[in-house]
Amino acid sequence: MAKKKGEIMAHECDLLVIGAGPGGYVAALRAGKLGLKTILVEKENNLGGTCLNVGCIPSKTLLYYSEQLFEDKNHRSKHGLEFQDLSLNFSTLMQTKLGVVKGLNMGIGGLLKRNKVQHFVGTASFKSPTEVILQSENETQSIHAKHVIIATGSTPISLPSLPIDEKKIISSSGALSLESVPKNLVIIGAGVIGLELGSVYNRLGSQVTFVEALDHIGGNLQPEISSALHKTLTKQGLKFLLSHKFVSQERKGDSFQLTLNDSKGEVVQIDSDVILVSIGRKPYTEGLNLESAGIQSDEKGRVQINPSFQTSQSHIYAIGDVVEGPMLAHKASEEGVAVVEKIAGSQPKVNYLTIPNVMYTQPEVASVGFTAEEAKAHGLNPKIGKFPFMANSRAHCVDAKEGLVQIIVDEASDIIIGMHIMSEHAGEMIAIGSLAIEKKVTAKELGALCFPHPTFSEAIKEAALDVHKETIHF
Ligand code: FAD
Ligand code: NAI
Repeated sequence: MAKKKGEIMAHECDLLVIGAGPGGYVAALRAGKLGLKTILVEKENNLGGTCLNVGCIPSKTLLYYSEQLFEDKNHRSKHGLEFQDLSLNFSTLMQTKLGVVKGLNMGIGGLLKRNKVQHFVGTASFKSPTEVILQSENETQSIHAKHVIIATGSTPISLPSLPIDEKKIISSSGALSLESVPKNLVIIGAGVIGLELGSVYNRLGSQVTFVEALDHIGGNLQPEISSALHKTLTKQGLKFLLSHKFVSQERKGDSFQLTLNDSKGEVVQIDSDVILVSIGRKPYTEGLNLESAGIQSDEKGRVQINPSFQTSQSHIYAIGDVVEGPMLAHKASEEGVAVVEKIAGSQPKVNYLTIPNVMYTQPEVASVGFTAEEAKAHGLNPKIGKFPFMANSRAHCVDAKEGLVQIIVDEASDIIIGMHIMSEHAGEMIAIGSLAIEKKVTAKELGALCFPHPTFSEAIKEAALDVHKETIHF
């Protein structure tokens, strides 16, 4: 029947998912596969959320190609590979990035169709605990769902004196869409976004300077890995002002003068063409009208949930960046699947200790489980086994000898409780650590496993052997 003018279209479903990021769209796909009548709503025209459109995927595309350029320019000639007239066409590189994103956007659209998930574009807001209004450009729709998942993600934190315009004062989104490579780039915050995007622009030719409040980079890394990474990135040309506080900025024509305070409180001034603010992200619930549904959020804006991901309304769940925990795509997806499986009647569990973190610098840094400090805080007695890539033969073959593996075990049981790797392909190898922690593998058992030769992963075996001082090659 045709809809009359002004009439609100009403829908009913088993599951409504709000937000099509890696939390929401993965939950919707799982629900579709389990036969639940599912609606997925997304306010943007593109599917995939922060991760696909302005996060994981565009950043990793730029990281990959910028690394190729940097290696070709700086490291290959010493091995006899000489390239003449190597240059950068920045706009083609940005087109490649767009093409990757668009291809994957379409892929998600196809998956939703194949799994019979209905997808609407529009902003969802709660009218009551049982009704959600979906507002798009041309129409208003009403949805009644037996279950709702809030997966509305996060947004960058900004500083009042550095208002983001995404051209000269930028967040990560602006950094992924610049029209040209800035001569000077100052990055406030040497966490994961800063280090990844700072690496990209350093490789493309910017002079990159970090202003970091802490005395180390990379947040909560194992200290030895943080300082090894600091050393390596400094060699690559990145400049770090650690224990420095941003105070103010003054626009000087087309650039900025920034005033900072160093650790002794002395004034330091630096200039920049572009400023990237990467000091963390905060949950995004704007426009959701949580109050109308009687849903509480905490002082950091995170939607409050119980261990089963239920908000104060038991049929409304929340997952991903909008709730507590690491802001990672795979964490959001795991939670989405867990909620859907719970709705479908099983008892799934997300083991947060086995969720890995990867920083896609060169070399990569990957970690899972506890750092030594965290292990102590949990009442465990950590024992560390380690192995440097300097002693790994594959690392010699490809001239990638920087970095190390650290394995942390609980001394009493020998069970692996943490793995930390800085090396080429660390992001691929860390899954061994997740499996070891999940299955409570001991260092003795991992050290007894046969790894292929010559591979980077042999360093994991050697680090496990080192727990009992039994390494072969060190
Ligand atoms: P999001 O991906 O943020 O998706 C939420 C969606 O909800 C958005 O599309 C939003 O438009 C929509 N929405 C919000 N409100 C409404 C509403 N009222 N109605 C309808 N729709 C709404 N993580 C990794 O694991 N690996 C990486 O390599 C990585 N790289 C990153 C690089 C950058 C530069 C950034 C910024 C982040 C990166 N992350 C990475 C983090 C990752 O992007 C997030 O953890 C992940 O996207 C969170 O997924 P989510 O589904 O919770 O939320
Ligand atoms: P972050 O929390 O990783 O790092 C922020 C850094 O800024 C910290 O080192 C902090 O000490 C510093 N800082 C905070 N306030 C400051 C100030 N006023 N002056 C100077 N320094 C200050 O946050 P980031 O890098 O913005 O990333 C946000 C989230 O995005 C991360 O938590 C991560 O979960 C996710 N992400 C994940 C990626 C991955 O998995 N590879 C890549 C990019 C983002």
